[in-house]
Amino acid sequence: MRGRMRKTAYQVTIAIDGPAGSGKSTVARRVAEKLGFLYLDSGAMYRAVTVFAIRHGIAEDTPKLIDMVKRCHIDFADNGKTILLNDENVSTDIRSPEVNSLVADVAKIPEIRHEIVRHQQRIGEEGSLIAEGRDLTTIVFPNADFKFYIDASVTERAGRRLAELRAQNVDTTLKAVEAGIRARDKKDTSRAHSPLRIAADAIRVDTTQRTIDEVVDFILGQVKSKD
Ligand code: C5P
Repeated sequence: MRGRMRKTAYQVTIAIDGPAGSGKSTVARRVAEKLGFLYLDSGAMYRAVTVFAIRHGIAEDTPKLIDMVKRCHIDFADNGKTILLNDENVSTDIRSPEVNSLVADVAKIPEIRHEIVRHQQRIGEEGSLIAEGRDLTTIVFPNADFKFYIDASVTERAGRRLAELRAQNVDTTLKAVEAGIRARDKKDTSRAHSPLRIAADAIRVDTTQRTIDEVVDFILGQVKSKD
C-alpha cells in the first residue's frame, strides 16, 4: 500500500460496517482525517476486482476469476482516496453502474474474499486505521478497538445516492436507485460467506435523521472517551 504509515507501538483500529448508502464511507474518511489514521475503503477493493472481471470478460467465469485475482495488484494512494489496479488509477471506473450491479456477485465468491481479507489485514498491521465495509467488524478485524454499525432507512439511503448520481449528471429515478440498493442489501446480507450483519459488540448508529458531522463527532467522542 502506498503512503504507508510506519508501524507504531500503540495502534488503534476502528471498524465500521453498514449497508450501501448509509454514509459510512464519508464518515470514515472524515474521522481518518481528524485522527490522522489510515483510511481503508474495503468496498473499493471488491469494486476493483469487479472492474478487472468486466475488462477481461470473466465476471461470470468464477474459476478464471479466482485464478486471475491472485495475480491482480490492488493498492491505495493518497490515504485511501485513490485506488490502483495493477498501477492504473481506477477510482472513477469502480463507481460505474455496471460495477454497482455486479460487485455483490463477485464479492460473494469465498476465494476472492479470502485474498482480499488477507490483504486488508496486512494493511491493518501498518498503523492506526479506520476501515469500513460489510465484514470489517466481524471477519477482518474481529478484535478492533472500536466497532460501529452505520445504518439508515432504505429511502434515505436511496435519496442520498440519487443526489450523488444527479450531481454526476446520471439520469435515473429514486425508484430505480432504491431497487438497486435493495437488491445489493439482499445479496450482501444473505450470502453464505461473511454476510453483512451487526457484530454483537458494535455500536449501532442510525444516520437517517443525523448529519455526517453529528455522526463524525459521535465516533470521535467514543474514541476520545477511551483515551
Ligand atoms: O461499500 P461499497 O458499496 O463500495 O461496497 C461495494 C460492494 O462490495 C458491496 O455491495 C458488497 O457486495 C462488497 N463488499 C463486501 N465486503 C466488504 C465491502 C464491500 O462484500 N467488506
